[in-house]
Amino acid sequence: MADIIDGRAIAGRLDEETRTKVEELVAAGCQRPGLAVILVGDDPASEIYVRHKIRACERVGIRSSKYALPADTGQEELLALIEALNDDDTVHGILCQVPLPDQIDTRLVLGAIAPEKDVDGFHPVNVGRLSTGTGGIVPCTPLGVMMMLETVIDRFEGLDAVVIGKSNIVGKPIANLLLDAECTVTVTHIHTAGLPEIVRQADIVVAAAGAPELVRGFWIKEGAVIIDVGITRVQTPEGKTRLTGDVAFDEVQHARAVSPVPGGVGPMTIACLLSNTQRAARAMML
Ligand code: GUN
Repeated sequence: MADIIDGRAIAGRLDEETRTKVEELVAAGCQRPGLAVILVGDDPASEIYVRHKIRACERVGIRSSKYALPADTGQEELLALIEALNDDDTVHGILCQVPLPDQIDTRLVLGAIAPEKDVDGFHPVNVGRLSTGTGGIVPCTPLGVMMMLETVIDRFEGLDAVVIGKSNIVGKPIANLLLDAECTVTVTHIHTAGLPEIVRQADIVVAAAGAPELVRGFWIKEGAVIIDVGITRVQTPEGKTRLTGDVAFDEVQHARAVSPVPGGVGPMTIACLLSNTQRAARAMML
């Protein structure tokens, strides 16, 4: 049986560390770290994500403020809010939940967040810093994936890593982090020819295609380590719904370790957001 990489447990330990560091800041006379969360429109999935993020702030002693704007909010209004939050000394992290409604230019909005408050790591300055290995704020999901891998892998040098998925917020930054760890990295996606054969070479597989159970047992080399970033709500034959990852979990038990869905990457993403907010606050105030 493959070991389970328990994201909830790892996230719990990271939250503990964040809570300690937050109280350290307060004890040193700094303001309590503050996160501003912007939600535009009423996308149900985004509402759930934002609710989880705000609740998580409470757990570690970070102040949060939520800005829920109507779906028809104009771009100028959103940019004005971001500008005000950039100038607000009590706000150390700003997160604008995506996707944004069609009338809004997402790139422009994410680029308007001050890079030092960009706790999602989506600003081009932080993307550039990551791709040149020069620090900056690392996006939450990729950071969480690396922490999960570090719980089972001591030496990354020379390992073959295959990333499935090429998104700006997951696939590309994960590939950069694995490269920085001296892995040999292949970035693939659902249109990649011969995908199963490529994945079969991998010591590390990061599945982030958003395609339920795409990765089958015969794709996986004996002893590989698998992180499943996918999370899709699917219908069961009984007419209910359940969350499914990108990996056919029951078929990959010959792997060395695999992360489950749910209870894998999801909790890590939120724990890394809190950690990024604490770090941004520390960099601003100490
Ligand atoms: N939408 C889906 N994931 C994320 C995330 O990590 N950050 C933001 N801002 N929006 C998202």
